[in-house]
Amino acid sequence: MPRIDLKEQPICITGASSGIGAATARACARAGMPVMLGARRVDRLEKLANEIRSAGGRAEFRACDVTDPHSCLELVEECDRAFGSIYAVFANAGYGFVKPFHETTDEELRAIFETNFWGTTNIIRPALDHMLPAKRGHILICSSCLGRFSVPFSGHYCATKAAQLHMGTAMRHELHPLGIHVSTVHPIGTKTEFFEVSESIGGREDPVVKKVPSLFMQPPERVAMAVVRCLHRPKGEIWTSLTIRALAAGITLCPGAGDWALRRRLAMKGGGNSGDQHEASIDREAGR
Ligand SMILES: NC(=O)c1ccc[n+]([C@@H]2O[C@H](COP(=O)([O-])OP(=O)(O)OC[C@H]3O[C@@H](n4cnc5c(N)ncnc54)[C@H](OP(=O)(O)O)[C@@H]3O)[C@@H](O)[C@H]2O)c1
Repeated sequence: MPRIDLKEQPICITGASSGIGAATARACARAGMPVMLGARRVDRLEKLANEIRSAGGRAEFRACDVTDPHSCLELVEECDRAFGSIYAVFANAGYGFVKPFHETTDEELRAIFETNFWGTTNIIRPALDHMLPAKRGHILICSSCLGRFSVPFSGHYCATKAAQLHMGTAMRHELHPLGIHVSTVHPIGTKTEFFEVSESIGGREDPVVKKVPSLFMQPPERVAMAVVRCLHRPKGEIWTSLTIRALAAGITLCPGAGDWALRRRLAMKGGGNSGDQHEASIDREAGR
């Protein structure tokens, strides 16, 4: 497939007020795309839009809460008014938190699905209303490497990321004959505000993240560059770490070995006293 010229192809990005969304907005603007920025913290969006404009790019912004379908519709409509019909959408807004399943309330579980899963569908639907008649477009969904495998204390988060991945994969097949690309994005640990937010919502540190070697923590710009490469040459899945991609494949192939390796890495042993030790070690890690 020939390289797609992104100049003057508008993109709408949710969760653009920080981290991966903000870095991707900068990278898309550098590639010549007019960017429509959405998130709840408008002061951050305004600052980013001004920065992009000062660098010669085109950017507009609008307050958007992705849990509200009408708010998402307005973001897409604003993109249409400002730049012409939307070419791409990056459903990126999301958050995590850390809690064992048995302590997680239904409200907490529903809330994370409202943002991570429903927030994704809420922004994709109005964008598709423009893409389908135009028979062109690109939908990108920020899942995670944790869409492919799960880790303890983040089952709720991993479930939302798996839901995004599976919905995105099905959409890719459905929309391919209609001229629309669909890609899922699978970042590994990325140095953003994600972990701060996660700690403040869950009220505890993430014991798993603390065990992740710094080698597997990346800057958000790395994801942003991969997203722009994918916009130029569409592909189904965006991975920024071959090692973690191979690990995910290994866990799928040999789930028993995956469980063993994960427990070993986290020093978690099952049964009797070792179970208590595990609880104690997690409490220590979480500062409880
Ligand atoms: N950081 C990682 O290690 C990592 C790894 C894999 C995947 N991811 C995924 O990457 C995506 C971006 O996360 P990040 O790492 O860049 O974290 P971040 O810096 O905390 O950014 C999260 C963004 O989502 C927005 N957001 C949250 N709830 C929202 C809502 N209801 N409506 C609109 N916007 C909302 C936030 O904006 P406002 O608060 O201003 O609304 C913020 O801009 C998420 O989907 C996350 O799951 C992150």
